[in-house]
Amino acid sequence: MAFFRGLSTVSKFRSRLAEQTTSLGSVRWLQMQSSSEQDLKSQLKELIPEQQDRLKKIKSEHGKVQLGNITTDMVIGGMRGMIGLLWETSLLDPEEGIRFRGLSIPECQKVLPAAVEGGEPLPEGLLWLLLTGKVPSKEQTSALTSELHSRCRVPDHVFNAIDALPVGAHPMTQFATGVMALQVDSEFQKAYEKGTPKSKYWEPTYEDVMNLIARLPVVAAYVYRRIFKDGKVIPSDKSLDYGANFSHMLGFDDPKMLELMRLYVTIHTDHEGGNVSAHTAHLVGSALSDPYLSFAAALNGLAGPLHGLANQEVLLWIKSVVVECGENISKDQLKDYVWKTLNSGKVVPGFGHGVLRKTDPRYTCQREFALKHLPEDPLFQLVSKLYEVVPPVLTELGKVKNPWPNVDAHSGVLLNHFGLSEARYYTVLFGVSRSIGIGSQLVWDRALGLPLERPKSVTMDWLEKHCAKSA
Ligand SMILES: CC(C)(COP(=O)(O)OP(=O)(O)OC[C@H]1O[C@@H](n2cnc3c(N)ncnc32)[C@H](O)[C@@H]1OP(=O)(O)O)[C@@H](O)C(=O)NCCC(=O)NCCS
Repeated sequence: MAFFRGLSTVSKFRSRLAEQTTSLGSVRWLQMQSSSEQDLKSQLKELIPEQQDRLKKIKSEHGKVQLGNITTDMVIGGMRGMIGLLWETSLLDPEEGIRFRGLSIPECQKVLPAAVEGGEPLPEGLLWLLLTGKVPSKEQTSALTSELHSRCRVPDHVFNAIDALPVGAHPMTQFATGVMALQVDSEFQKAYEKGTPKSKYWEPTYEDVMNLIARLPVVAAYVYRRIFKDGKVIPSDKSLDYGANFSHMLGFDDPKMLELMRLYVTIHTDHEGGNVSAHTAHLVGSALSDPYLSFAAALNGLAGPLHGLANQEVLLWIKSVVVECGENISKDQLKDYVWKTLNSGKVVPGFGHGVLRKTDPRYTCQREFALKHLPEDPLFQLVSKLYEVVPPVLTELGKVKNPWPNVDAHSGVLLNHFGLSEARYYTVLFGVSRSIGIGSQLVWDRALGLPLERPKSVTMDWLEKHCAKSA
């Protein structure tokens, strides 16, 4: 919220008025009011000095304030609950879910510009919000759509690098290879080699991030068409927005699928900084590796089954339920199947979370989309049954901290409904979306001059000695 300090006198007056409403209302109101007609980079130029001062002030006034205790459990347990990162673009509340620059998903659906009256938000609008903290106007959003189109040319060597891999290579391997090949054009690398001063690092980072976001759908669609559609590539359509054009290049033009893709890309963009892909990009970027290198590293983390690959695993698992028990499986049969999965030592994909302790709002908005557009779909009905059956089973297991569904529990059946049924491809869609959050934060990492990340590690020997002394 404090992000909006330093506004004009008029805005300050308005913000006082806004404080008289609920705190949530005031955030939204301020974000709406503070948008101007400038282009995105000019807005950033204006915001950055303000935020640099803010960070300096936090450091000088509160640098020694304690934020929590680090326990042995946290060190052994994957740093759960340990505050250790600055991540400006979004914040995750265990009970309430994600907020993008203070706005929940339903709020984003209300205030971000849409392609269809009352429809799903345009991912370009969310990109603007994540980068600036301000809700863009329709004009600003469509200018950003055009800007992304103007940056989307992918050099041939990228396709050649992908073609060097066997067509059967996992889609994430092909996608990450494409991203590494895009790195050849890094503006940040060129600027660094020329000796650009640190205060200017954010500008070539911005160029790389915008080019990366613009080019990823082309690379991702190429991978899809190469593997699943005999290499028949569909060119980009400049009349379409980002999400719709991506869907079009994949080969799906049903207006409902275009809406789904806008929603899909929007909700997968960002999930604060500690998740594997976001944290990886932040860590690698802290070494001043450029955005392509940082994002390719993030993709390799996203490709893990406990993280992004869970969306692939969910649809494959649901299809295995259908093969074994049919679409009209009873709740009792489903419960037995869930126990069978657990007893064979596997996790139930799409359920549980490292931070969330309630149903993921990214799941809820996809469920609402399904209720509106495909209520009769048999796999959606199976997903609905799982919502009733799985949480009590995981609770009975006794060790699962969050038995509720996450984003991945739902996305596959929606995509499958519109014909995108190749589950092995799903994590690539997640990757395209995640570039928007990760890229936005990388711009701020460089703008704020955040340092090399270098936490302290210890050995078991160190832990035993330290704990013995404390006892
Ligand atoms: C997301 C996930 C990795 C979070 O892990 P976490 O923070 O360690 O979760 P917890 O603290 O609740 O884990 C405690 C135990 O419950 C298990 N558990 C958690 N979720 C589970 C699930 N969906 N199915 C079976 N067991 C699960 C863990 O594997 C762990 O078991 P262990 O102590 O034998 O190693 C985990 O919930 C999971 O594997 N879910 C399925 C994969 C998935 O959907 N990933 C996408 C996340 S958005």
